[in-house]
Amino acid sequence: MLKIEKLTKTFGGNVAVDAATLSVDGPSMIGIIGRSGAGKSTLLRMMNRLTDASEGRILFEGRDVTHLTGAAKRQWQSQCAMIFQQFNLVPRMDVVSNVLHGTLNRRSTFTTIFNLYPRADIHHAIEILDRLGIAAHAPKRAEALSGGQQQRVAIARALMQDPRMILADEPIASLDPMNAQTVMEALRRIHDEDGRTVICNLHTLDTARRYCDRVIGMRDGRIVFDGTPDQLTTGMAREIYGAGADFSEAATSTEIETLDRSAAEQARLQALREAEATA
Ligand SMILES: Nc1ncnc2c1ncn2[C@@H]1O[C@H](COP(=O)(O)OP(=O)(O)OP(=O)(O)O)[C@@H](O)[C@H]1O
Ligand SMILES: [Mg+2]
Repeated sequence: MLKIEKLTKTFGGNVAVDAATLSVDGPSMIGIIGRSGAGKSTLLRMMNRLTDASEGRILFEGRDVTHLTGAAKRQWQSQCAMIFQQFNLVPRMDVVSNVLHGTLNRRSTFTTIFNLYPRADIHHAIEILDRLGIAAHAPKRAEALSGGQQQRVAIARALMQDPRMILADEPIASLDPMNAQTVMEALRRIHDEDGRTVICNLHTLDTARRYCDRVIGMRDGRIVFDGTPDQLTTGMAREIYGAGADFSEAATSTEIETLDRSAAEQARLQALREAEATA
């Protein structure tokens, strides 16, 4: 279905994603993990064509989508709808209109300007909201909803495009545990019930284990692990995160970064003390 071949992104001299290769053969629920800066977002953004790849190819059902432009590119982008940590809703606009924004790719500028949505689309939007348990909020402004509710609106907007894949970049990183659970369960159901592929960047390993059937680990731009949660041993997890023995599965990628920095700081101080002692 989806094949990523040696996909690479360089920013100046910095290699953000380094020859990433992976294939998705059927509907899957995949979590991508790795410390902050590992290249997770860049990889998803290249797949969705928000960022152009420097090298490599993206094939979807045999078709090369790496260099599509214009309408063909937009069509591809609606087939792999993206969800972001910060929801990216229009805060002052009502929930239904936010969801209907998901149909913009296939509507004319005229109907967009005048906010003329077909009745069938409005019904469909409310159906999707209902499925996600938030239909009662349909007329409210998006900003009046909780974070978890707003993220479900963003998921509804993505579903409005009837995508084959949903690419979610840290969809729960700004949510409290309760809301995070609701959002992850919603994504899991979309995979289970609709057979859509969901690829999720996640900043804690335990979430990836809990909701995903396949975990991809990235380190320094490279895919260093690709397997089931069972195959992901604690040793392997430490290798992905480049973390020490005090590594915990519930730690976020950012926490691991801090932990690592403080470990480096400790080591530096220790070296200084030793140097002073010998002087
Ligand atoms: N637009 C950009 N311009 C320059 N460098 C970038 C850009 N976007 C990302 N990078 C760099 O590419 C590398 C990978 O970044 P990326 O955002 O993909 O990591 P990430 O795994 O998503 O991290 P996080 O967990 O913090 O979200 C980092 O070194 C980052 O600084
Ligand atoms: Mg990121």
